[in-house]
Amino acid sequence: MYILTGFIIKILTAVQTKEFVILPSIIMKKKEKLAVKRSSAGLGLFANQAIKKKTRVIEYLGEIISEEEANRRGGKYLFELNDKKTIDGKDRSNVARYINHSCKPNCYPELNSTETRVFIFTKKDIEAGEEITYDYGKTYFNDIIKPHGCKCSACLEKYK
Ligand SMILES: C[S@@+](CC[C@H](N)C(=O)[O-])C[C@H]1O[C@@H](n2cnc3c(N)ncnc32)[C@H](O)[C@@H]1O
Ligand SMILES: [Zn+2]
Repeated sequence: MYILTGFIIKILTAVQTKEFVILPSIIMKKKEKLAVKRSSAGLGLFANQAIKKKTRVIEYLGEIISEEEANRRGGKYLFELNDKKTIDGKDRSNVARYINHSCKPNCYPELNSTETRVFIFTKKDIEAGEEITYDYGKTYFNDIIKPHGCKCSACLEKYK
């Protein structure tokens, strides 16, 4: 009973102090900013809430491998950093791997100065519910997307 009373006092104190901000996040599960859902091109990454222009959304994570190793492995989750290095983002923990290509994207990838990391930034304000997309670039588009037809919303709209 004493412990329970103490706990209630602690909550009431927290409500009146700055802990109020911390406490609800412990009790309630925070809604994720991004969600993986079905899209026109398989699974895709969607915004659960509005995101302002020029915001860093997510990092494309994975093992950095050589060009030769990338050619040996292949796969659809390779992100080329330069002509020597590629990120293999195939691991499911790399949530950015779900971002699809768009010919009219709302985001763009940016490399850090040492070309070892890739961050995805918004190029415009994004609304809650919008799919996160970026332009995969000419090589990936021509080799992998184009042969089967681009399923981005801009192309689907164009050829309807
Ligand atoms: C990095 S993955 C993106 C996530 C993928 N949709 C999934 O379900 O895992 C890249 C692959 O998704 C598909 N994809 C992405 N954007 C596409 C698009 N605009 N049109 C058709 N296929 C696309 C292609 O199969 C491509 O090789
Ligand atoms: Zn397209």
